[in-house]
Amino acid sequence: MQPDFIAPSILSADFARLGEEVDQVLAAGADWVHFDVMDNHYVPNLTIGPMVCEALRKHGVTAPIDVHLMVKPVDELIGMFIDAGASSITFHPEASEHIDRSLQLIRDGGCKAGLVFNPATPLTHADYVMDKLDMMLLMSVNPGFGGQSFIPGTLDKLREARERIDRSGRDIRLEVDGGVKADNIRDIAAAGADTFVAGSAIFKQPDYKTIIQQMRDEIAK
Ligand code: DX5
Ligand code: ZN
Repeated sequence: MQPDFIAPSILSADFARLGEEVDQVLAAGADWVHFDVMDNHYVPNLTIGPMVCEALRKHGVTAPIDVHLMVKPVDELIGMFIDAGASSITFHPEASEHIDRSLQLIRDGGCKAGLVFNPATPLTHADYVMDKLDMMLLMSVNPGFGGQSFIPGTLDKLREARERIDRSGRDIRLEVDGGVKADNIRDIAAAGADTFVAGSAIFKQPDYKTIIQQMRDEIAK
């Protein structure tokens, strides 16, 4: 099993002070920066694009930037995010005409690649591309907004995903995104997740260090 990572979603950060917010959350012990890209087409919201990713790199962010594409189509933006300094790129299989090709594009660009599974999306989308996956991201809310409640059925789905990953024998991260809080992270970890995206749970707290440590303590229990 890989070490557990906390990936704050900057969707809940103060966008007017984004560089500072990212610096603070990393100084507080975050492992990755989770970067939510929404296009008001695949999901009903509009957020940030490759220019903002590039700006964070220019600002001096060296930590992994985990780009979660909630856009359709995906291939053009994959190229733009590779150039903008993304470390990993995940996309929703429903949003790509050619899943294998999109995964290969990400890998050819030197980034880690992953698929994202909406609450009702079957894990079978991964069946024939396990060898091209560095991560599987399970949505525990419907994508589009921060601050929603964790869908409990995700726990069974995480257990199933964990079995698939273990069976594959590959180093694939199992990431979970949506409604992750200090009071449910322990159950989520027990179900097999090793990478935890949390937006509102972290950025709505005054002290990022305390909440991140609290999450780590819960996972370790
Ligand atoms: C939702 C995004 C999430 C979101 C999580 O579509 O993919 O990353 O920011 O926010 P919380 O942790 O507030 O549910
Ligand atoms: Zn996300």
